[in-house]
Amino acid sequence: MPDTHKRVGVLISGRGSNMVSLAEAAQAPGYPAEIALVISNIPDVAGLDRARSFGIATATIDHRPFGRDREAFERAVDELLRVNQIDLVVLAGFMRILTPWFVKRWEGRMINIHPSLLPLFKGTHTHRQALEAGASEHGCSVHFVVPELDAGPVILQAKVPVLPGDDEETLSQRVLVEEHKLYPAALADVASGRARLAGDVVIRA
Ligand code: GRF
Repeated sequence: MPDTHKRVGVLISGRGSNMVSLAEAAQAPGYPAEIALVISNIPDVAGLDRARSFGIATATIDHRPFGRDREAFERAVDELLRVNQIDLVVLAGFMRILTPWFVKRWEGRMINIHPSLLPLFKGTHTHRQALEAGASEHGCSVHFVVPELDAGPVILQAKVPVLPGDDEETLSQRVLVEEHKLYPAALADVASGRARLAGDVVIRA
């Protein structure tokens, strides 16, 4: 295994299609990362079954028993990541906002995919936001996670056109196809050290 081989923990909350695209990419010889663990904060989501079908270890850490104590939930997640010797954390449809405590712990080692051309359309309902804004193009971004939501330095982006007659569903499907190519490429860049966070910019080797 090359020196750059990284153990990745993927955090999900749902169907896990991006996680699947990463698990598939990681099967290729020479890919610089393996998906070693998938954690969901929601029990019984489809993504957990899909991860198990790849032979990936899975865990559920339900956030609800922790109530408002976000950090207590995150300490449980952090502990599991560390016990499993995870090097990089990948957020893939993970629907919890993370505290600065957790973000700092994984600074430069945690990435997220967001379905818009950041800095445009942060937050939720990005496809609706793009349609309402009359955008002619839209897309997705992979970025390092920083404490401010959807504000981290961008590693890679992919664009799609917004077509006449598009609705949220057609536009999200077009973007999702690109997400599934973009995320494996961006993770490979980070895992191999070709892209790294330096302060608030991405440096490319
Ligand atoms: C994706 O559109 C991703 O960009 C966003 O949430 C969605 C997750 O989909 N953050 P999936 O669970 O990976 O299928």
